[in-house]
Parts: sequence; C-alpha cells; structure tokens
Amino acid sequence: MKYVLIIGAKNELGIELANLYARNNYNLYLAGRSIKDIQDKSDEIEKKYKVKSVLCELDVTDYNSHQKIYDTLTIKPIGVIYLAGYYPNIPLSISEWSETLRTIEINYMGCMSLLNIISNQFINDRRGFIISVTSVSGLRGRAKNYIYGSAKAGLITYMSGLRNKMNKYNVNVLTVIPGFITSNKDNKENYPRVLVTTPKKLALKIFNAQQSNKDVIYSSTLWQLIMFVIKLIPEALFKKLKI
Ligand SMILES: NC(=O)c1ccc[n+]([C@@H]2O[C@H](COP(=O)([O-])OP(=O)(O)OC[C@H]3O[C@@H](n4cnc5c(N)ncnc54)[C@H](OP(=O)(O)O)[C@@H]3O)[C@@H](O)[C@H]2O)c1
Repeated sequence: MKYVLIIGAKNELGIELANLYARNNYNLYLAGRSIKDIQDKSDEIEKKYKVKSVLCELDVTDYNSHQKIYDTLTIKPIGVIYLAGYYPNIPLSISEWSETLRTIEINYMGCMSLLNIISNQFINDRRGFIISVTSVSGLRGRAKNYIYGSAKAGLITYMSGLRNKMNKYNVNVLTVIPGFITSNKDNKENYPRVLVTTPKKLALKIFNAQQSNKDVIYSSTLWQLIMFVIKLIPEALFKKLKI
C-alpha cells in the first residue's frame, strides 16, 4: 500500500497531481489548511481509482504540529510533494513585516520544517521521493518581487543540498521551477501564452519527471532558456534593467 503525501493539496495543481498518482495506484494523503473543503474531490478520487485518499489538516507555518501530524500517519508515505506557496502583496511584503514573514514561512520555512522530518524517514527506509515546487523568481532577484523570489531561492538551495545528501540513500529529490501557472484566482490572460502552463500539464510533467528520477525541471524548455540567459547577464547591467 504505497502512499504519496501532497502538502498544499487544495490548489488545482494539487488536485491534478492527486488524480495522476491515484490513477497510477498510489494512495493519497492530502494535506492543507481547512482541508475538508476538498472532501468531495477526495471522495471522487477514491471512487474513480479505487485507492485510499486521507485528508490531513496541516498548516505549514505551525511548526510545532509537524512531527505530531507526521506521527499520526500509520503507513508512512513513499513520496512527498510540497506545493504550498504564497505570492504576497508586493508593497506590503516590504513595508509590513508580517507580510514579509508570511511569504518566507509558506514558501520556504514550512517546507524545511516538514522535509527535515520526512527525509529522516526516507533515510531509514533507504527509498522515497521528494518534490518541491519553487519558481523562476528564485533564480535571480528582481525589484518586482525579491521577497517572494528570495524565499523561493532559499527553497531551491535547500532542495539542492537535500538532493546531494539523499543521493546515497536511494531517495530522489526533484526541484520543479515553473514560470507562470494558470489558476482559478488569476487566469493570466494578459501573459504571452507560450509562457503560461496549466496545472494539468504541469502535473503530468512533474509525475513523469519523478517517475524517471529527474533532479530539476522547468515548466517548459522556453523558460529554461530564458532563465539561462537571465542568469548570464552581468550584475552591473542587470541592476539597470526593468524586468
Ligand atoms: N501561479 C503561478 O504563476 C506560479 C508560478 C511559479 C511558481 N508557483 C508556485 O507553484 C505552487 C502552486 O502555485 P498556485 O499558483 O497554484 O498556488 P495557489 O493557488 O496560491 O496555492 C497555494 C497553496 O498553498 C496552500 N497554502 C498556503 N498557505 C498555507 C499554509 N499556511 N498551510 C498549508 N497550505 C497553505 C494554499 O492553501 P489555502 O487554500 O489554504 O490558502 C494553496 O493550496 C506554489 O508553490 C507557487 O508558489 C506558482
């Protein structure tokens, strides 16, 4: 009975991933705040794919609860996917410390707290997979969103270090670096279509990458190319750009 734990499972990407893993015979732990909101979707998945789908109430910023919640999972997951994220109100994220902190906590610290616990289990088991969704914003700081970007940058570095550590334990660590993703909240109609992906497409990309033990993926080759070029721009020039 293999389980995958999806953290921040309430968003569209989470539901798409839940469907994909269930279709491929994984049982599910779907974790998030007010997770009962997706009870219908969870029931639907159970019925459709004949797997178990268990809802776990979890706030990624409630660090003291993480070990206790993990201990309640009777069958430990074989894989974990961290999707929780928060795109802040940009001016507030600089002027109000509570907004700065919220951005760092949801995008970075919550993930560290949970993966520090779960990776120990995978070390003992000598198997498992770990996936985390970061952002292209984490690859180079821009005036537009450097609080969010620096939190995602921290996460990218954490994942890289974890991959290096877990390699000898037969645990695959996959960093997902998306560009824009459509979501219910913001359908990104004004963005060039080639730069935007859907949760469904991204979920499939993530699933395939995990199944073939990839280390790092972008949401598209175009984004990979764009970020390759952006990272090459000398700092003396980059600081003058409005991008
Ligand atoms: N959308 C984009 O264009 C884009 C681009 C690059 C990277 N990303 C990253 O991709 C991931 C998914 O993006 P999205 O736009 O689909 O995100 P989203 O719709 O904003 O979903 C974020 C998820 O995180 C959960 N979450 C937030 N705070 C939490 C907390 N304290 N405890 C537990 N769960 C919490 C939310 O649950 P609630 O319903 O409880 O808030 C929600 O399910 C995120 O990590 C995001 O940063 C997104």
